[in-house]
Amino acid sequence: MSVLRHLTVAPSAARLTNSLRDIGYDFPSAVADLVDNSVAAGAGRIEVRVEFAGADSRVLIADDGCGMGPGQLAEALRFGSRQTYGSRDLGRYGLGLKTASLSQCRSLTVVSRRPEGSRTFVRQLDLDLIEEWDDWVICDPGATAGVRAAREMLLQGFSTVVVWENLDRVLPNDRPDGGWAKRRIEAAAAKTARHLAMVFHRFLEEGAGERRFTLVVNGKSVEPWNPFGSPAAPSQEMPGLSFEIPVGDRVGTVQLSRHVLPARNRMDQEEWERLAGPLKWNRQQGFYIYRADRLVQWGGWAGLRAIDEHTKLARVALSFDADLDPAFNINVAKMRVSLPAELRQMLERPVHEACMAAEAAYRSGAQSRGNLPVHRDPAPAADSQVTGSPAADRSDRGAAATAGDRASRMVGLALRTAAVQSGDYEALRRIVKVIADEAPDIIETLGLADL
Ligand SMILES: Nc1ncnc2c1ncn2[C@@H]1O[C@H](COP(=O)(O)OP(=O)(O)O)[C@@H](O)[C@H]1O
Ligand SMILES: [Mg+2]
Repeated sequence: MSVLRHLTVAPSAARLTNSLRDIGYDFPSAVADLVDNSVAAGAGRIEVRVEFAGADSRVLIADDGCGMGPGQLAEALRFGSRQTYGSRDLGRYGLGLKTASLSQCRSLTVVSRRPEGSRTFVRQLDLDLIEEWDDWVICDPGATAGVRAAREMLLQGFSTVVVWENLDRVLPNDRPDGGWAKRRIEAAAAKTARHLAMVFHRFLEEGAGERRFTLVVNGKSVEPWNPFGSPAAPSQEMPGLSFEIPVGDRVGTVQLSRHVLPARNRMDQEEWERLAGPLKWNRQQGFYIYRADRLVQWGGWAGLRAIDEHTKLARVALSFDADLDPAFNINVAKMRVSLPAELRQMLERPVHEACMAAEAAYRSGAQSRGNLPVHRDPAPAADSQVTGSPAADRSDRGAAATAGDRASRMVGLALRTAAVQSGDYEALRRIVKVIADEAPDIIETLGLADL
């Protein structure tokens, strides 16, 4: 085709930057996207400051990662930064720094230095300037108050500080210095701390290895929030599974781990409320989907089943690496994925089992409410074979069995009872055999191994 038949039609910088402000971030998820960059830069220490000062309020996000030289800094501020990614990288589109920041503010400044180098480099991306020039411009803003604050943080050992100013999406237009504005900023900071505690919990926990980092929000250290229980209230973990998903001519792996949390009467009120999570018990049941260990979606069953009070103790982790991004269709704000159709099908049975176990745990909790912490063993089933089963042997160990184990045995007992009542015990035998071939642990946990 002749070059003469080609026309370059560059986008309008003014218009496009404005539309990119609304691609689905809220304040906490925007901060989380910048924390992703700090993690990718190998940071061990990350600090977020949300400072209220009326119209001059600002947000600073600092890390002690690899930092950037002048060329990298300019590239970082390009919409669609040129970058190659590994399967454990948290970045993807080369957009997050810009789109996440501009979803909350009109002015984004990055102050950075390579740890080994003494020079500090400063570049600013300002929406007003882009609108005025209608071009993709960045500038050196000079020694503004924001830059001075960032430089002070560099003196404390940080290597990159991102500064958000002109917070038009956070502050109300009319009274940015009023009490309401102040409360809004404070609420945003508190919500952000909770959000980061959840989405980065695998990085904040002991045992996170090389990628572990410490996180401080407005002077307070952020403790990880693990959806799958705590030492005071451990969950029952059902056997893990892994699934292979084709992407192009390769195959990636998705790991599934299923947890049944203890019922309400198995922990004190404070722990119950803490484990409830940001969306509370009912809406926090369901999938927790991790991409390269960073939580990208949580709560609900992704259309596989409905949220139900009786299954609210079921929480299921799905983990994949960035090489499966095309299969999961991750969105730019890293807040939504869609389950690949073939995976959805494979998940039906294991998710159903987890929900049955959760329902049994819920009902056992409801039965013995008020008897804390004593557990009433389920009534013997109609089928006398139970007595000789491995599950029954395990129940002899009584106190050693976890609440989760007991819940699973209840499900097993309910199945036996139903099989006897329906007059089709053979059908249960056949079903158990099919499952036992693939996942003998499940049958063992249900106490059905003797069938
Ligand atoms: N805190 C940081 N430390 C070092 N480099 C960074 C930092 N933040 C951003 N960068 C650089 O800027 C690039 C663009 O970031 P971003 O727009 O978030 O896109 P992505 O993370 O998808 O690559 C990153 O790939 C990285 O090279
Ligand atoms: Mg990024």
